[in-house]
Amino acid sequence: MSTAASVDTPATQDDRDLALYAERIDRPPQLKTAEFSREGRLRHVIFGGQYSVDVLEDLAGTADKIRLLSKSRDGQDFLLRLLAHKRAMLYFTQPSTRTFLSFMAACQILGVTCNEVRDPTTSSETKGETRFDSIRMFSSYFDLVIMRSPVARLAEACAYLMNDLERSGNRSVPIINAGSGADEHPTQALLDIYTLQRTFQFVSPKDSPAATKLDKLRDEYPDLNTGLAGKTYGFCGDIGRGRTVRSLASLLSLYEGVSLVFVAPDHPTLRMGDDLRQRLDRRGVRYVEVESLESPINGVPAIETLDALYMTRIQKEHNAAADDAEFAAIDFANFKLTAELARRMKRYAPILHPFPRDQHFGEIPPEIDNDPRAMYFRQARNGMWVRAALLAHVFNVDHRVARCYHEHYGDWLAGGQA
Ligand code: NCD
Repeated sequence: MSTAASVDTPATQDDRDLALYAERIDRPPQLKTAEFSREGRLRHVIFGGQYSVDVLEDLAGTADKIRLLSKSRDGQDFLLRLLAHKRAMLYFTQPSTRTFLSFMAACQILGVTCNEVRDPTTSSETKGETRFDSIRMFSSYFDLVIMRSPVARLAEACAYLMNDLERSGNRSVPIINAGSGADEHPTQALLDIYTLQRTFQFVSPKDSPAATKLDKLRDEYPDLNTGLAGKTYGFCGDIGRGRTVRSLASLLSLYEGVSLVFVAPDHPTLRMGDDLRQRLDRRGVRYVEVESLESPINGVPAIETLDALYMTRIQKEHNAAADDAEFAAIDFANFKLTAELARRMKRYAPILHPFPRDQHFGEIPPEIDNDPRAMYFRQARNGMWVRAALLAHVFNVDHRVARCYHEHYGDWLAGGQA
């Protein structure tokens, strides 16, 4: 995405802030990844394209171990000591329930002490302090900054600031992007992938309605396999402004043979943006864009072709003046999941949603919540485990989690129960 930061005469304070880093921000993602890593592990977590399939597998493995260790008092005590010497700043200047709380809970699982700034009017930004001075101050007191901002690319700029500080021999801490404008939400994509990984293992009945019945399911779906590769993923709703969609679609494109189906109104604000389209084209991913969950794809209604469905809400709080009038002409019924549509989905296909869902719009009515394929509450809890795994990875203690896990569960694992 080209940024407002690259224009010649920046207009707003946001633009002026980002202009300092515009050249670095405007580079293609593959040129940036190395700057956000240290010794083969993630240092700053800024965009979805940073994860490789190996890192995703690794993080999922650590998350599984942390969730199992958390079941026993001994395991909990071990985890609590792991990062008890670290402090995190949660700098969230945009509304958040799940991302904020699950990061806080993840910190608490590993013994990290948290502090928060959620309202910039309570900080010195009201006295004219720049965001970069604020972040640098946070890095003086804390060992990690987890940040959500309405400003696209601000987290990325903060990562460059930290790298520059490190180079000049100053204190520097990791930055984790917990949502940056309409741009990226890399840790949401992590929990979405983790949920899909668990679902498509077909092992635990809580993660997967088809658990342990894979052989039986193959009578009906002969091509069904474990894993994320080769499957068809549907995204429905506000694709244009959905940062979770952008990050997850990029991650799914890492898996062999996936197909993506985008179901959104044909309106420039709501349909897929050019940058995501180009990213998918570059990676040679198969995708189609349709205007209803009923639209035919090779003669079959879209809803019946999906192996997983990712619903999103229409983010009307970001509507521009012209949008309200133009949206009035759109039939939004095409972007709501109904019980009848859910009945026509594949029997194993998980229904995901980053949440919050919009009770007034009703993209997923509560009557679907008891469907065993409804994964959205589980998905939110998975966020806590996988964010804990990410912290363990960034602070290089994941090998200690693995060792403790094998000490606790070694016999059980040796008995083939893994
Ligand atoms: C989303 C977000 O903030 O991007 N929610 C989340 O983090 N779980 C999606 C949204 O606000 O619709």
